[in-house]
Amino acid sequence: MKLIKLNAIDSTNEYIKLNKSFFSQNSLAVYSFNQTNGRGQRGKKWISEPYKNTCISFYFRVLKPSEYILLKISLYTALTVLEVLKSYDIPDLKIKWPNDIMSGNRKIAGILIETTLVKNKINDLLIGIGLNVNQTDFDTIKEATSMKILKNKSFNLHMISEQFVEKFSSFEDKISNLLKDKLIEKFCSHLYGIREKRKFVIGEKVVEGIILGITDNYMLNVELDKQVKHYDSGQIKLVL
Ligand code: BTN
Repeated sequence: MKLIKLNAIDSTNEYIKLNKSFFSQNSLAVYSFNQTNGRGQRGKKWISEPYKNTCISFYFRVLKPSEYILLKISLYTALTVLEVLKSYDIPDLKIKWPNDIMSGNRKIAGILIETTLVKNKINDLLIGIGLNVNQTDFDTIKEATSMKILKNKSFNLHMISEQFVEKFSSFEDKISNLLKDKLIEKFCSHLYGIREKRKFVIGEKVVEGIILGITDNYMLNVELDKQVKHYDSGQIKLVL
């Protein structure tokens, strides 16, 4: 995997989109500690204080078509971020479906997965990870936290970033060797709010339900009014 470290960039995901054709390698890792116009899920911004956090993107070209590949990519990515954070003894780690990593009730990392499809098959894949490391002031973002807030000490950004690069090398082999059901089971054992009575926003309405797990196509399974329903990420929002 080719590794590129950028002093400053608008967005590591956008950098890859613009430059991927200039690289001959089939996989790239790009990271920066100064991302000035980061992209988040559903068109939102990802704001990161310069030189306090790490912003990493991985690019994989032409994935071998296989069943449940997008599901496995999403599950493996979330579980890997969790694993890295666990190695730093970050407490009470959970995955808030679809792509947030939480410590307790606060978000410590976000994941943005983008794919390009050709004839309905994934042609290339971008995985962007934003991890709050040494930032302690999140201003108006009340639900955010960082490794420093939780552990009361600073961390080496290069070390953490390279740990991610190591975990994502041979990514394709790794995910093809993983069984979908085992991955779902592991993911659900870390799923935020699972089997608890929770409030959700669906459309304009606030409803109460219980998260049961996820489906094979990465939808959220929720019990509402004694019925099991599934939702994709645009349809339902868990109230924190
Ligand atoms: C989210 O929680 O909304 C997802 C945030 C993803 C942020 C990362 S930082 C590295 C990569 N580059 C971007 O512009 N976004 C992702």
